[in-house]
Amino acid sequence: MTKDNNTENDNQANALWGGRFDAAPSAIMQAINASIDVDKRMAAQDLAGSSAHAAMLAACGIISKDDEAAIQSGLKQIGEEIRGGTFTYSAALEDIHMNIEARLATLIGEAAGRLHTARSRNDQVATDLRLWLRGALDDIDGLLGAFQKSLIALAEAEAETIMPGFTHLQSAQPVSFGHHMLAYVEMMHRDRGRFADARNRLNESPLGAAALAGTAYPIDREMTAKALGFDGPMRNSLDAVSARDFALEFLSAASICAVHLSRLAEELVIWTSAGFAFVSLSDQFSTGSSIMPQKRNPDAAELVRAKTGRIVGDLNTLLMVMKGLPLAYSKDMQEDKEPVFDAYEALCLSLSAMTGMMDDLGIKRDALAGAAGAAYSTATDLADWLVREAGVPFREAHHITGTIVKRAEQKSQTLSELSLEDMQAVCPKITQGIYDVLTPSASAASRTSFGGTAPQNVRTQVNFWKEKL
Ligand code: ARG
Repeated sequence: MTKDNNTENDNQANALWGGRFDAAPSAIMQAINASIDVDKRMAAQDLAGSSAHAAMLAACGIISKDDEAAIQSGLKQIGEEIRGGTFTYSAALEDIHMNIEARLATLIGEAAGRLHTARSRNDQVATDLRLWLRGALDDIDGLLGAFQKSLIALAEAEAETIMPGFTHLQSAQPVSFGHHMLAYVEMMHRDRGRFADARNRLNESPLGAAALAGTAYPIDREMTAKALGFDGPMRNSLDAVSARDFALEFLSAASICAVHLSRLAEELVIWTSAGFAFVSLSDQFSTGSSIMPQKRNPDAAELVRAKTGRIVGDLNTLLMVMKGLPLAYSKDMQEDKEPVFDAYEALCLSLSAMTGMMDDLGIKRDALAGAAGAAYSTATDLADWLVREAGVPFREAHHITGTIVKRAEQKSQTLSELSLEDMQAVCPKITQGIYDVLTPSASAASRTSFGGTAPQNVRTQVNFWKEKL
């Protein structure tokens, strides 16, 4: 809780809205009502909004140039105090908007009281949150780009590295490790698109919608919108103060992105386990156990997996806050910021941790190759060979291959270890040429269809992404 250094008398009504009140709110009322501990994070946006609003009021002749100059210099000083850590926040002043306005009054006196002309905290807070989120989306886009670059570097280095591809987490067909990494580059690309869409849609200005109905003052909403970098003012004042779908859209895109990260995080947990031992994380990205000295735990990957739950929870929180709220503003909406800030923190940290782990990853190529050759992962190649070279219909080839796999299993051999006689006993049409397709690398190299895993395709895709980013 913010320490309250407010000089106001305990029993005095709120200086900014207490005209019809005789007494101050109870301590518990203040505790549930105050949001300053959360929304002080939007101080810079609030100052920018107020500065644009004051300039517009003066340009439209609603306040004098002198008052505007006093307001601007007061806002500037408050900005310095906040950045310098000398600003005193007060819970009695509820939120960042009133904390700043009260400080302005202390600094410049009467002119401060003119700043709130033709404005309400309802359009003010909606403006601040949109501005804040716009910056947050830019941060996230930068982190996503960096993460993609790490994945692409790994894909380039490991284009020829063959690993088992899985379905049902059962070995299915050999794939390029680089191909697997590029799958996540695609996901992150779509995530960036979703965040960019959210940014485009949120970039319009609620400022000037006032409490809910607009204002009778001759304001210029185009001017404030432009000054704040918005595409234009929102067309409907009721919508402007009550819409939070921009925050929900951010949380939705963040949830999808986090779910993507959690899948790779889970793969790291599996791949670093002793049963797989496909990859390793260095000391920098592992933790030990306080009782089992041999342990190296992939905690960062596990925490990325867990933060996904938190981010999806943030989306649910705001969906539930907004559900059934009548137009326009209700105080419920004050609870919109915590989930947004929390999801932003969790996602940024997750993206940085995933990028760090990708840059750190040790690739155990021999283990990957060994696993790729096990579990009859080239059985489809054998069946395809029968179709292609011996004219066998695919369904029949599938059956023949199944019989050969059973025989190899009985002999504890891989497909490429099984003798020609053994194969011919099942299908006399099989010749020595079959062995060309039974190795995992031959299998992967043969998958040259567009989007397929052949290392040459992976290199083409790596070049595509390098050019694109
Ligand atoms: N702290 C409030 C919020 O975050 C600001 C808006 C208050 N509006 C009001 N009508 N009480 O939503």
